[in-house]
Amino acid sequence: MKVVPSSFGKVFLQNSGTEAVEVALKIARKISKKAEFLAFLNSFHGRTMGSLSVTGNEKYRRAFEPMPYKVRFAPFNAVDQVDKLVTEDLAAVIVEPIQGEGGVNPAKPEFLRALRQVTRERNVLLIFDEVQTGFGRTGRVWAFENYGVEPDIFTAGKSIAGGLPIGVAVVRREFGDIFEPGEHGSTFAGNPLVMAAAKAGVEVLINDNVPERARAMGDSS
Ligand SMILES: Cc1ncc(COP(=O)(O)O)c(C=O)c1O
Repeated sequence: MKVVPSSFGKVFLQNSGTEAVEVALKIARKISKKAEFLAFLNSFHGRTMGSLSVTGNEKYRRAFEPMPYKVRFAPFNAVDQVDKLVTEDLAAVIVEPIQGEGGVNPAKPEFLRALRQVTRERNVLLIFDEVQTGFGRTGRVWAFENYGVEPDIFTAGKSIAGGLPIGVAVVRREFGDIFEPGEHGSTFAGNPLVMAAAKAGVEVLINDNVPERARAMGDSS
């Protein structure tokens, strides 16, 4: 079993899910040279200021407005609005394949397919936030594999290092090197203790067939 599909070439190691989203947004801005994002109502992407900017829930944002990033919010799963909403001036669209904090709302396959098609046509990056759905929880290693739709960047975290702090942003191979030295970094990201735990986490994921087990348990419930 491969943990990351071969179309992805770079993994940015971080200390949390929210940091993984932060670097995904930075990467989108650097690659696209554009500033604005499209995100979805009811989404949750974390509590630092960039990821909070794309979180579509007033409850988390209210006390901290105005937000640093310019973000438009759209209804989740509104397939018929995708064509109108994904405009060429966007840096990226960020979406959870299954909204987690928002109430376990799976994306409709046609919604993710439409986002993928229109973002590709208009040169807009597509980010899947898999911090909650990733690492075997939905019957595949990544939820997007259930949909057959690949993003340009995806984020993950939570259980990867078995409870030690980790976040990852994974970027498609075709984007090559993204940052110049010093443009991105973190003192503790990728530290040996967490990496040993993450290596053990990957071994458990594979050796214990975690995705298959999740699928079987999901099917029987
Ligand atoms: C989809 C999603 N993105 C980002 C985050 C933020 O992760 P962390 O709490 O590790 O910063 C969460 C946390 O629940 C999440 O569910």
